[in-house]
Amino acid sequence: MPPTGTTNDLAPTVFVLYGATGDLARRMVLPAFFELAQHDLLPEDWRLIGSGRGERTDEEFVEHVRTALEEFGPGTEGPWEEFSQRLRFAGGGFTADDPGQLLDVVATARKELGDDAQLVHYLSLPPKAFTDYTRALGAHGLAEGARVVYEKPFGASPEGFRELDDLVHSVMDEEQVFRIDHFLGKEGTQDLHVARFANGLFEHIWSREHVAQVQIDVPEDLDVADRADFYDATGATLDMLVTHLFQVAAEVAMEPPVSFSAGDILAARESVLSHFRPLAPEDVVLGQFDGYRDLHNIPDDSTTDTFVAARLFIDSGRWRGVPFLLRTGKRLAAKQQRVSLVLHRPKGPVNDVPPNGNVISLSLAGAGALDVDIMAKRPGPDLAMAPARVSLDLSKVPGGEPLAPYVSLIHDVLVGDRSLFTTSEGLAQTWRALQPVLDHRPEVHPYEPGSWGPTAANALAGEHGWLLGQTEE
Ligand code: BG6
Repeated sequence: MPPTGTTNDLAPTVFVLYGATGDLARRMVLPAFFELAQHDLLPEDWRLIGSGRGERTDEEFVEHVRTALEEFGPGTEGPWEEFSQRLRFAGGGFTADDPGQLLDVVATARKELGDDAQLVHYLSLPPKAFTDYTRALGAHGLAEGARVVYEKPFGASPEGFRELDDLVHSVMDEEQVFRIDHFLGKEGTQDLHVARFANGLFEHIWSREHVAQVQIDVPEDLDVADRADFYDATGATLDMLVTHLFQVAAEVAMEPPVSFSAGDILAARESVLSHFRPLAPEDVVLGQFDGYRDLHNIPDDSTTDTFVAARLFIDSGRWRGVPFLLRTGKRLAAKQQRVSLVLHRPKGPVNDVPPNGNVISLSLAGAGALDVDIMAKRPGPDLAMAPARVSLDLSKVPGGEPLAPYVSLIHDVLVGDRSLFTTSEGLAQTWRALQPVLDHRPEVHPYEPGSWGPTAANALAGEHGWLLGQTEE
């Protein structure tokens, strides 16, 4: 959730970053950590220990971090001098049999920070490494009282999820686990809570009585050239649908939480996941863009889906019968991240309102935006209507200081707020909902790069059609 004040009353924190010299750490985690320092959102005293297989001195690690910030982050403006003095490196890897230098470096940091220092482990590692590192945390007593952050995907199949989940729970309690789904950390996603629960205008129409369908549409124009190995083994359904799109659907569909506390928000989102009806394979369209198999490191006969569109039903009293249309893919015509609620046409004297005349829509990209599509009188002598849009750029909300998703989520870890993280039970429900598609995988349709995906996906959206692609967006 957005910070509501200074966090300098936080306990001193030892933050251990596994995979500290890897790609994800360079691109996301280290820049996010420095941005927290720039926003004055770190505890007053802390150490960040990079863990890796190679040998590096602390000074070499500082140089590594500086380069990462210059290449991918905000540069080294502001508190860099002080920041850099708190960086340490523990080489030699970290396994259950051999902890390398980590135990010594953690012990020193704890001595410097005091016994009450909070330990946070951040596994910025390929998912296949989660098991070994979890075991190692248990074997060396480092899980006790600690918070442990796992990247996505937390298990790449129902079986993989269950095995990892059991192992994690044998080493730590669920309350210690922070599973990242960075779509939950986006300003726009978080604004779903506020727009809906703080405005009668929205909350009163947030149900099947008023909403004809929901679209969660995340087309991407990039391909996967720089991560072919990962992507070909994963595909759009696992990379985006069962993770980000399902979680955002749950954010839209949840019942009002008892309060705005972290625990209540988390409980409300996770509980609606159990109402997701298992996807019917005929409600899912898969695609692969032409030319995908020519990419470096992609096998000539790959059947990996680079596109997925699905019609999901959520069998709660509020949403029964309302289709949730989910779509994402690579090499599509545009890059957008939109959640749209298409409202029923009003019953009344005006009977030529177009099917998409009334839409509430949130952009999840960047700082987020809220748009309401309405019908307005076209100014002039006649009583004629025209579609119009009312827009709010969320970065312009007075006093706003938008945070990037990773910045926001790492802040939540430091504060101990799990509201925007996924839970073991919730993830089990997402796999349950996907299971029929894994058992009976739909055919993979080819599509033109730069298009909106296979035409077979159009039928899923019914008379409304997919909103993106119909307008200038
Ligand atoms: C990642 C997926 O989790 O999210 C990528 O692995 C995808 O395939 C990315 O491109 C999209 O998120 P964002 O926030 O970077 O646009």
